[in-house]
Amino acid sequence: MATTEPIIFVALAVCLFGRVDSQYLGKFLGKLSELHHGVAGEVYAVDGRTLHIKDFTYDGQGPAAYFYASTYKTADSRGFRLRDENNNGDVIRRYRKESVTLTLPEGKTLNNIKIFYVWCEEFDVNFGDIKIPRNFDFPRPQKIDALKGVHSISSDNIVIVDAQTLLIPNLHYDGEAPDAKFWSGRGPKPSPQGIRIPDENGKEVPLRKYDGKTVVLTLPGDLTVFDIGHFGIWCEEFTVDFGHIQIPQTLNIPPSLKMLGVSPQSKLNCEVLNDELAFEVRWAIAGESIVLQVVAKLDDREYMSFGVSGDQFKSVMVGGDVVVAWVDKTTLKGYAEDYYLQDKSQCSGPTGSCPDSKFADDANNIRLLNAAMVNGYSIVTYQRPLKASDQYDQPIVTNGSQAIIWAIGPLNQRDEVSFHSSYLKKDSLIDFARPAKWNCPLPEGDVPGPHTVATQSKQEHVTEEVVLSRATEEQTVEPLSTAAPRREGGNRRRGGNRVSTRQPVDAEAEGQASMKREPTRTSSRGSNRGGQRGPTPVKSKDAWYIPPIECYEPEDGVFYAQMGPTGGKRGYPAITGHVGWGISWYINGLLIPEINVVRGKTYTFIVEGGNDPEVSAKYHPFYISNDSIGGYGYKTPEERMNITVHAGVRFSKYGPAEPIGTGRLCHWTQTGDKDADDFESFGAYQRTLQLKCDSGEPGIIQWKPDKYTPDTLYYQCFTHRHLGWKINVHDTCEQPSASMIEPTFIEAPSNLESESKPSIRQDTMFQKTSVH
Ligand SMILES: *[C@@H]1O[C@H](CO)[C@@H](O)[C@H](O)[C@H]1NC(C)=O
Ligand SMILES: *[C@@H]1O[C@H](CO)[C@@H](O)[C@H](O)[C@H]1NC(C)=O
Ligand SMILES: *[C@@H]1O[C@H](CO)[C@@H](O)[C@H](O)[C@H]1NC(C)=O
Repeated sequence: MATTEPIIFVALAVCLFGRVDSQYLGKFLGKLSELHHGVAGEVYAVDGRTLHIKDFTYDGQGPAAYFYASTYKTADSRGFRLRDENNNGDVIRRYRKESVTLTLPEGKTLNNIKIFYVWCEEFDVNFGDIKIPRNFDFPRPQKIDALKGVHSISSDNIVIVDAQTLLIPNLHYDGEAPDAKFWSGRGPKPSPQGIRIPDENGKEVPLRKYDGKTVVLTLPGDLTVFDIGHFGIWCEEFTVDFGHIQIPQTLNIPPSLKMLGVSPQSKLNCEVLNDELAFEVRWAIAGESIVLQVVAKLDDREYMSFGVSGDQFKSVMVGGDVVVAWVDKTTLKGYAEDYYLQDKSQCSGPTGSCPDSKFADDANNIRLLNAAMVNGYSIVTYQRPLKASDQYDQPIVTNGSQAIIWAIGPLNQRDEVSFHSSYLKKDSLIDFARPAKWNCPLPEGDVPGPHTVATQSKQEHVTEEVVLSRATEEQTVEPLSTAAPRREGGNRRRGGNRVSTRQPVDAEAEGQASMKREPTRTSSRGSNRGGQRGPTPVKSKDAWYIPPIECYEPEDGVFYAQMGPTGGKRGYPAITGHVGWGISWYINGLLIPEINVVRGKTYTFIVEGGNDPEVSAKYHPFYISNDSIGGYGYKTPEERMNITVHAGVRFSKYGPAEPIGTGRLCHWTQTGDKDADDFESFGAYQRTLQLKCDSGEPGIIQWKPDKYTPDTLYYQCFTHRHLGWKINVHDTCEQPSASMIEPTFIEAPSNLESESKPSIRQDTMFQKTSVH
């Protein structure tokens, strides 16, 4: 972003008309001294290379005035010009209280300039200036904590790139939860009162699997990091914290471009390499590196290559330094390989046109940022240093044009290039450091075709790249060489090290669907994504039969309440008509059975649903109420007024309602690799379950329904919604005669951990009429 890129601010500086004065514009440097021609304004440091002047005023009457900065202390002719807010180098115009964002030239920062001024070259007159303090601590991206949580969620340290932008390097998440969202809000911890943070595509759909991708998120609307206390991943439907970090309250970070009224779009360059193949290269220089994106319509197993010629002014293949890029159409995994074209032959041993890594270890200086297939176009985005990193690289120069080369051709079996089918046949030069120019078609409307791709992906990718470059330059992200994506040799299984699978077309549709608040998965398993939207009522005939716990069983009225899996399509969702999030209550080893109780009898629940409130996803206090949804702990006072809790919550006059049904976590865990959907009956599924318990004591709740107890109640989890099911309360309980019980059983899981005490009492719990 701004630190690194002079041409980023080409766009019109938008007049910040009507915005509140307290708006964050960066670190305040001071007011311009008002010397001549009405020059005035408040100067802010946006970041190391960007200044913002609020209410800039100048009468335009000076003969040859320019924005100036100098590495000397005084405003004089030893300084250098700054381009204006539109990236023009001309004499500056008249300004009337306008917001102006200026970028220092390449190589200059607020640490090596000492003064900024408006300078009249013709008469050597200073119209107004502001001094930059020594060792000025300008706003810059800040690295904070890493994400860590359940569902394999992890990341490297998150970078706050600017007041509205978070960068999450190396994000992992298994994609298995039905309704996970990036989530934020006030205070140190997530709660249902938080807000969704749109994903890297700007959508609010449930998150998919992440496999080490670097994700850039923009806070919605006018929200800034100064307004939030935490950030993380949250399961909205079930109010589960999957992992979060706290946002430090004092951060010296740049404002976002949006806050400055500057559009980031304008910094990208584009050139068409070949019209017929819709082969384009887009790029932006960012400090010491350049971010490039190559786009082409490729056949399966075809590569596109682009790079710098071996000769500075002639396009020649030999000696060239190119990137060979492609997207595997099956796995959607993207590749960008650093190649050195030693000679015209195919790579063989360490000779020929080979990946740099064939010539020497650690010679790959390309960092793959993103890859996507969009409407049949392969799009690969990568970053490389401007300088040549080793003898197999050519530099990208910033002081003039240089010859480029490109080719398209088939990959061989080793995923290396074979002889190109199309290539550049004349000399072609590019000035990579030119002021940004988009020399590729930009269509009107939404005509499909390559140019739609261009527009879409331009908008879609630019922020991410700009942000990445900025964060990289500030060294808040791992340096290029070590952050290169790992390669899993030959392993191209779906999802492995995949960089991105964005598909804007789908994403668009999803975006619309996501306007609704319902979860968009129909199943607790990730496999169903992209299917129907909204919780589809599941026909109950599809549900497994779960024998209810009869009112005469167990005799002593003791129930074990533990956690376990929701059991696929025919489990929790089919039984309740509501999606599950992967876990639910097991009562005496049964998946959410209906419990029948009789008034006047005392029941004891041995609760093993977890007792560490810090790990929300493993903290399930048991309680009984007349609310079929659950999650009492997160209900508003209004919602609570409509609910009567019958057991499991302690209410005190002062202080919050406290759950008391907490104990160590015991979890029925599926063994074997058969899918839950493949089991014909719960009994068969149950045989694969094994009880695993943490150490510690269970919790105990006693409850005696009486004549005031309603006929239907629900057992649920205090901190999460939709984990439990029904309790039927009866006045009397008739035990059937023994002959009515069929002699078929649901077998107990064979592998009950005998040492985990207390455990399920097999004698009472499984003697149930079974399913056919
Ligand atoms: C660019 O800079 C390099 C090294 O500083 C120099 O050798 C080269 O002649 C310059 N090129 C142009 C076009 O000014
Ligand atoms: C209270 O519960 C009743 C019965 O389920 C329901 O119809 C009603 O909408 C609820 N009211 C509020 C304010 O939640
Ligand atoms: C729960 O019980 C209370 C008290 O009887 C009643 O006012 C409320 O409507 C019930 N709520 C639901 C959701 O049934």
